[in-house]
Amino acid sequence: MRAVVCHELGPPSLLRIEERPDPEVRPGTVVIDVEAAGVNFVDALFVGGRYQIKPPLPFVPGNEVAGRVAAVGEGVDALSIGQRVLANCGLGGYAGKVAAPVASVFTLPDRLSAPQAATFTQSYSTSLFALRDRAQLAEGERVVVLGGGGGVGLAAIGVARALGARVLAVASSAPKRAAAAGAGAEEVLDPEVAPLKDAVRAWAGGTGADVVVDPVGGPLAEPALRALGDGGRYLVIGFAASIPSIPLNQVLLRNRNVLGIDWGIWAMQHAAEQRILLEDLLEMVEVGRIEPVAPTEYRLEEVGRALDDLMKRRAVGKLALIP
Ligand SMILES: NC(=O)c1ccc[n+]([C@@H]2O[C@H](COP(=O)([O-])OP(=O)(O)OC[C@H]3O[C@@H](n4cnc5c(N)ncnc54)[C@H](OP(=O)(O)O)[C@@H]3O)[C@@H](O)[C@H]2O)c1
Repeated sequence: MRAVVCHELGPPSLLRIEERPDPEVRPGTVVIDVEAAGVNFVDALFVGGRYQIKPPLPFVPGNEVAGRVAAVGEGVDALSIGQRVLANCGLGGYAGKVAAPVASVFTLPDRLSAPQAATFTQSYSTSLFALRDRAQLAEGERVVVLGGGGGVGLAAIGVARALGARVLAVASSAPKRAAAAGAGAEEVLDPEVAPLKDAVRAWAGGTGADVVVDPVGGPLAEPALRALGDGGRYLVIGFAASIPSIPLNQVLLRNRNVLGIDWGIWAMQHAAEQRILLEDLLEMVEVGRIEPVAPTEYRLEEVGRALDDLMKRRAVGKLALIP
């Protein structure tokens, strides 16, 4: 099979495409013919050696895939050859085939294409965990989504809408704002044009927002916190721009809450609960409550460009490699 191999930590241009032996099917695992592999921010961090976990070299990046079951290991009864699945394989997803433990494999609703499914788990699980389980979002609440045209941002818009909330999305370019509106944001904002706090207050009727979803950090974080109303919840999800410093008086004022969202660690420590959460999401897809945006597709040999587009802020929504 062909695979993207990281021999040396650094920029994505150092990645190589190589022929590798197909993975063996072991007890309790399945081998999947990969039809699409999700490209995530965290993959770029792995490849660059900037993630807290550093796999031994060489390694094949990629932890989200979708495709068809190609082989079934001993003791696996729930899955059969040819079934359409998505899997969270840890590493190894940027390849023609990957092995995954059965506990991390889910059958796909017909409505989800392989590229949509391969870019679903991280962004949507993070968003549902953040909005439903951590923020306890209620129907009719007003949610501000920073990075609204990015992967987590678009998922958060879809999940917030599915939970009955209203959304204002912030994004830096017209294509990103169009994607955010398409995903269900009723208002989109270019932060270069209108000051964030004033725009949110105008939208939320002077009272301020109920929830901020922040996968970006950087200079927008403080005005977004200031835009929260009484008892508002600020969801710290990521720092695509940079880690901001924020005056704590802005948390005291109006009895605001700042909630850290570390979905990755939570999912590792609560595998059974994560399985239920992802099943809830797939059910929401099945009944049409969420409709994941189709990702931009890249060929395996375009992996460097895909990761570069993500890191350099050019990507709109999700990205998928098609081996
Ligand atoms: N806590 C968790 O459990 C969890 C789970 C998944 C992801 N994350 C983290 O969340 C963050 C966003 O992930 P994502 O998948 O949404 O990424 P993404 O698709 O690249 O979106 C991030 C957005 O951040 C904005 N941005 C501002 N400055 C940027 C910069 N210097 N470089 C890149 N983007 C910049 C961009 O929007 P504008 O151009 O509109 O500003 C971009 O669309 C990452 O840090 C990721 O590691 C955390």
